[in-house]
Parts: sequence; C-alpha cells; structure tokens
Amino acid sequence: MSAVEIFEVGPRDGLQNEKAQIATADKIALVDLLSTAGFKRIEVASFVSPKWVPQMADSAEVLAGITRANGVSYAALTPNMRGLEAAIAAKADEVAVFASASEGFSKANVNATIEESLARFVPILDAAPMPVRGYVSCIAECPYDGPTDPADVARVVAQLRAMGCYEISLGDTIGRATPEQIDVMLKAVTDVCPPTQLAGHFHDTSGRALLNIDVALSHGLRVFDAAVGGLGGCPYAPGAAGNVATEAVLAHLDAAGHRTGLDAKIVAQAGEMARAMRSPKETT
Ligand code: HMG
Ligand code: MG
Repeated sequence: MSAVEIFEVGPRDGLQNEKAQIATADKIALVDLLSTAGFKRIEVASFVSPKWVPQMADSAEVLAGITRANGVSYAALTPNMRGLEAAIAAKADEVAVFASASEGFSKANVNATIEESLARFVPILDAAPMPVRGYVSCIAECPYDGPTDPADVARVVAQLRAMGCYEISLGDTIGRATPEQIDVMLKAVTDVCPPTQLAGHFHDTSGRALLNIDVALSHGLRVFDAAVGGLGGCPYAPGAAGNVATEAVLAHLDAAGHRTGLDAKIVAQAGEMARAMRSPKETT
C-alpha cells in the first residue's frame, strides 16, 4: 500500500479552543514530544488576533521555545499580513491561510466575506519567503448556512491554488459530513486540483471521520490532518467537536497497510499529554 502522511495539527487546532489558558511550557513540551514521533509537518502556532483566539496569543513564545527537529516543518496560521510578519519573525517554516466555502462561517471566523478574505491572501502569497498552505473550511456543512455546494468548495480551492498555495486542506469544520457528501465534493474539487495537492481535515463530531478519510483515499488524497488526543474545534464553529485523533487515524491507516512512518507509542504518549491539558470541565 502507499505512503500516507498525517499532518499533526494538535498544538494549534487541538488546543486553540481550550477555554483555560494552557502554560506555554506545556505547549512546548507537547511539540517537543511530537517532534520525535516521525511527523514531517506539525502546526504549532496561529498568528491571529489574541482578542479572537486568546489561547494562541503565545504563539511566538512557543516557536521560540521548541527544540526543532531536523526534517520537521513547523507551521503557523496567518490570516493577514500582520500574521505573516509575526510568523516570519518567529521563524515558522511554513504558514497557512484559511478561507471558507460558506459565507456564514467566513464572516464569523475572520469578519470578512470569502472574496475579501481571499483578497487578503494575495499579498501573503506574494511576500511569504516560505511555503504557504491553504485551508478551506465548511466543505460539506456550515454551522450558519447549512449544506455547502461542492461547486463553492471547488471555486475557493481553485483560487487558493492559483494564488500559489502548495497544498489545500479541505476542512469538515463541524464534523458533520457524510461519506456521500465527501465523495460528491471531491469529484468537484479534483476537477480543479490534483489529489496530490489536497489534504483532508476532518473533525469527528459525528464519528464519521475515518469513513471520510477512506473516501478521500479512494480519490487519491494521501495527506490527512489530525490532532493527538482528538482535541479541538474552532471557537467560531458552534458544535464543532474535536479533530479526528491522530492515534485513531494512525491505527486505521496501519490496519489498511498504509505506511505513515510514525511511532505509535510516542503518538499515544502525546495523546495522553494533550488530553491532560484540557480544561477540567471539558474532560470526559
Ligand atoms: P477584525 O476585527 O475584522 O480585524 O479581525 P481588525 O484588523 O480590526 O483587527 C482586530 C484586532 O486584532 C486589532 O486590535 C488588530 O490590531 C488585531 P485592536 O486594535 O482592536 O487592539 N489584529 C491582530 N493581532 C495579532 N495578529 C494578527 C492580527 N490581525 C489583527 N494577525 C481577524 C480580523 C482576521 C484578525 C480576526 O477575525 C481573527 O483573528 N480571526 C481568526 C479566527 C481564528 O483563528 N479561527 C480559528 C482558526 S481557523 C480553523 O480553526 C479552521 C481550520 O482548522 C480548518 C477547519 O477545521 O475547517 C483551519
Ligand atoms: Mg479545524
């Protein structure tokens, strides 16, 4: 079977929604452990407004404090030029811009229409000295607008690709997509972008993330975002539960004979460490 990469997003997407501020040293310890697990890319920071996402306010300190492993790319979210400048100063290896396929979520998440947010990304792609990844949220369902038209996803993917995003990650932000929806959406999206430049980013609210990964594998996708411990959610996506757990994706891919290059023991240890960082009231 083929090689499949898990892009670890736990230190960013997993932790960003935690209400109680997590100590910077704990975030650094999590990243340092993840750096020994075999990941090629780990999203560790988010240079967004601290008023919008207070948990990510120490992103520069996290990037300054981690022990960087050879061959690992440490990624950061950058919604605007100010975010890019901060990411460059903090020596992020790559950055990511994030758009939505639905207007309701775009407005709630970045206070801009889809077109306005895409227009903000053009100077980022022009100026960034490092690779830029793109996200598209609400690829199947939006918490504000309901079902998303696959043509809307394809249009945003095509625009991010035309700007120069090296890979576009397709986000089921509230984890409500069905395998059928993912199938129809990917038929539309792979018409405008090869599957080798796409990644799947499934939240697991409805317990269908692994099924959706299987559908994406059948369309040729070979990169999946996941968060150790299954933590996460977006503060501007009500009802969004955790990201699909890295441990679960790893076991699922292993069972199907795919090669991930990850050390399952370290991943499990990191999952425990991440779960221990949750606010007590959210611990189940
Ligand atoms: P705004 O209020 O429209 O813009 O926010 P603004 O320019 O008026 O800025 C508001 C304040 O933030 C100002 O401060 C700015 O200086 C400051 P004030 O003058 O009020 O003191 N500011 C910044 N501070 C630090 N870094 C920056 C920055 N930019 C402005 N880069 C904005 C617009 C985009 C800034 C805001 O809406 C925002 O930060 N949104 C981020 C929301 C977010 O991070 N959501 C979670 C990540 S996306 C996600 O989780 C989905 C994903 O996982 C995929 C999926 O699951 O679908 C990727
Ligand atoms: Mg997400």
